[in-house]
Amino acid sequence: MKMWSGRFRQPLDPHFESWQRSFEFDRRLLRYELAASAAHARALKNAGVLSADELISVLEGLQQIGEMAAAANGLVQDDETEDVHHYVEKQLVAKIGEVGYKLHSGRSRNEQVATDLRMYVRAAIDQLRKDLAEVCEAFIDRAEEAGSAAMPAYTHLQHAEPVLVAHWLLAYVEMFLRDGERLADCRRRLNRCPLGSGAVAGATLPLDRGLMANELEFDGPTANSIDATSDRDFILEFVDSLSLLSLHLSRWAEEMIIFSSQEFGFVHLPEAYSTGSSAMPQKKNPDLLELVRGKSGRIFGSATALAVTLKGLPLAYNKDLQEMQQPLFDATDTALGMLPLVAGWMRAVAFDSAHMNDASQSGFMNAWAAATYLVKRGVPSRLAHEQIGKAVKLCLEKNCELQELTLEDLRTLHTAFDESFYESLQTAAVLAMHDVIGGTAPGRVRQGIMAAKKKIESLREEINFHAHA
Ligand code: ARG
Repeated sequence: MKMWSGRFRQPLDPHFESWQRSFEFDRRLLRYELAASAAHARALKNAGVLSADELISVLEGLQQIGEMAAAANGLVQDDETEDVHHYVEKQLVAKIGEVGYKLHSGRSRNEQVATDLRMYVRAAIDQLRKDLAEVCEAFIDRAEEAGSAAMPAYTHLQHAEPVLVAHWLLAYVEMFLRDGERLADCRRRLNRCPLGSGAVAGATLPLDRGLMANELEFDGPTANSIDATSDRDFILEFVDSLSLLSLHLSRWAEEMIIFSSQEFGFVHLPEAYSTGSSAMPQKKNPDLLELVRGKSGRIFGSATALAVTLKGLPLAYNKDLQEMQQPLFDATDTALGMLPLVAGWMRAVAFDSAHMNDASQSGFMNAWAAATYLVKRGVPSRLAHEQIGKAVKLCLEKNCELQELTLEDLRTLHTAFDESFYESLQTAAVLAMHDVIGGTAPGRVRQGIMAAKKKIESLREEINFHAHA
């Protein structure tokens, strides 16, 4: 039986009927639909609509549907079902008889789908944050392992200054930690329960909304039934957060692709995550990285689709909202699919420390440190910059590095130079000079590692709290 055929005199056009169905994709919401239905059933019992026996039989029926779905790996089939809400009603009636039709008392699919989607996004956030913690841990482990190894840092993709490899790896950890926080923030805001909002004006029965919210682990009921049935902000916030997360992954992938090229040679691609060429026998290609970079485009596409779908809708529920499910599911799957692979790649990749270190020794990356040497001897910064610039010019003529200039050469530029200049140009000294919070001095990077570990720890605690709540 349809959920709404009473007032219709004509049957639906068969093509339209199958075309407007959402069951093929919204069956993914089944477990949330069942949980929300159980909460609604309890509220119906409290409101005197279901007897104690009827409640038991409804709850048993819902449980059986859940078991059936689990056996089918969630991929339940039904070519006649309009959507997941219809599916549950049909199955319930098939299992427990007409009393199953009582479950829909005082509720609307508009509040149900809003509730299911909030629960879906909430669970996705919990899983993503868990996976993000794993990714961060892989980066932090590599950072600890890198010890005092140095590499060039770039600005404008030109040699800038030497940094610790660990410092560079921690830069990515910061991005991922922000992604985790953004998701947590989104979770906090979405965690209100629409049940009891009805179709638009609120439930027509005296349902205890607080109880339903509590049972489904929401922080409380939503405040306004018109908003609650039409709000999909949480989906936009979530997928926008995934866009930013995937943007970070894409930037990382791009940098790894550059660093693995023969011209850089800083990283050796792990074979377990690379592929060959069917034509060129020598090739080892960075496919994982390229796909990560490519998939970010797909997530941005979903984010755009969602915003454009929502932006023109008058209050409250409109069927257009159904079109928001697939981009949401696709963006979630895409993000969830990537994170464990990124962690695996990071653990498997080999850094060419010798090559990175060599690269950090050349290309005048100690020039700013050289200028600072003069500044510390009282030379005004702009003039020090100018003199070291001239020293670099001299090096370019002589084809050498700053530390290879003679003291005589240097003294023609400024009398403040003496023997100690050479010591201050050594990479270790240059690194140590950046001794500020967040800087590349070894002590500061160690602090950075400790701080990042702490943040991961509290992230894990929070995730466990939600898992056991
Ligand atoms: N399948 C629908 C959706 O996802 C459920 C809500 C239907 N509500 C309605 N008034 N037709 O949006």
